Order: sequence, then C-alpha cells, then structure tokens
Amino acid sequence: MPDLIPVLSKEEIEAAVANLAKKLSVDYENHELVLVGVLKGAFVFLADLIRHLTIDVKVDFVRLASYGTKRSSSGEVRLTKELEIDIQNKDVLIVEDIVDTGLSLTFLVDYLNAFKPRTVRICTMIDKRERRETDIHVDYAACVVEQGLLVGYGLDHAEIYRNLPAVYDLKL
Ligand code: IMP
Ligand code: MG
Repeated sequence: MPDLIPVLSKEEIEAAVANLAKKLSVDYENHELVLVGVLKGAFVFLADLIRHLTIDVKVDFVRLASYGTKRSSSGEVRLTKELEIDIQNKDVLIVEDIVDTGLSLTFLVDYLNAFKPRTVRICTMIDKRERRETDIHVDYAACVVEQGLLVGYGLDHAEIYRNLPAVYDLKL
C-alpha cells in the first residue's frame, strides 16, 4: 500500500491561499486581471483563490499535456485546450497547481505572450524547487516545498488523490 505523508494541512493551505489572495487584491487593484488556470491540477486552488479576491477578475483555462511521463518531463509540452478570453493589453496571471522543472510554464508564457497581454505573471499553489531546470520566475507562491511526489488539493498521481483537502507526499 502506498503511504501518504502529510506535507501541508488543510488549515495551512487555507491560510496561505487567503493571504495570497489579499496580496493579489492589492497588487492588481485597478488592473484588468485575467486568471488563466492550468487544467487539470489548478482547479481546486483557483476555485478557493478567487473567492478570496476583492477585485474584479476574469477567469479562463488552458490545458497542457506533456509528452512522456510526468516524472521525467521531456520538456515537450503541447496545448490541448486553447485560451478563449481576449487577453490583449490585459494583465494575465497564470494559476498553476505546482511548478516543478518549470518547463510547462516556459512553454505557456511564450504561448500567452503571442496574444500581446500587458503583463504575464505566475501564481502557483506550490513552488517545488528541487528539480527546477529553467530560470522561470515564480511571482506568487502560496507554499514552497523542496521535494516529493505531492498529491491532494488538485494534485494527482495517475489521476487519483485530487480530492484530498490536504497535501501529502506519496511514497509508492
Ligand atoms: P513542470 O513542467 O516540470 O514544472 O511540471 C509541472 C506539472 O507537472 C504540474 O503542473 C503538475 O501537473 C505536474 N507535477 C509536477 N510535480 C508534481 C507533483 O509532485 N505531484 C503532482 N503533479 C506534479
Ligand atoms: Mg499543472
């Protein structure tokens, strides 16, 4: 049986998300903010985050798929769901579940920049630093975790565990 080692409690996550939303509400006050959630993993984080925002915001989603297995990201990323909202001259905030190597986000930032937004920044639930392979700048992170195969709060392993309200390190 796989072991689930607690990493972030439900209470820690709630506090971190509320805190981050407060900061975003200040930083993006009087801006035309568009959140771009990255499916599937970010749906739980994004759903909680927007309910704490005190500013107007539009929401859209993209879906990324990477070739090869998740644990050995080949860096070959493709988009399987396009953006639908017009982001030209808008302030875009990418909402991710977790930044690992950074390769998916490097691809996504390039994709979004082609639509000529005013700004593109990155907001992630978890900044997982150990395996970073790019110099991508994470503008906002609710939590920083060094390593692990993290599951729960939207994060999956083979599509399981997304529904867990806390984050665990899965020991297979
Ligand atoms: P990156 O391109 O290596 O930064 O990978 C980012 C994507 O890989 C994330 O959006 C997740 O979908 C997935 N991922 C990376 N690390 C984990 C993890 O620990 N648990 C679950 N998914 C992960
Ligand atoms: Mg993701």
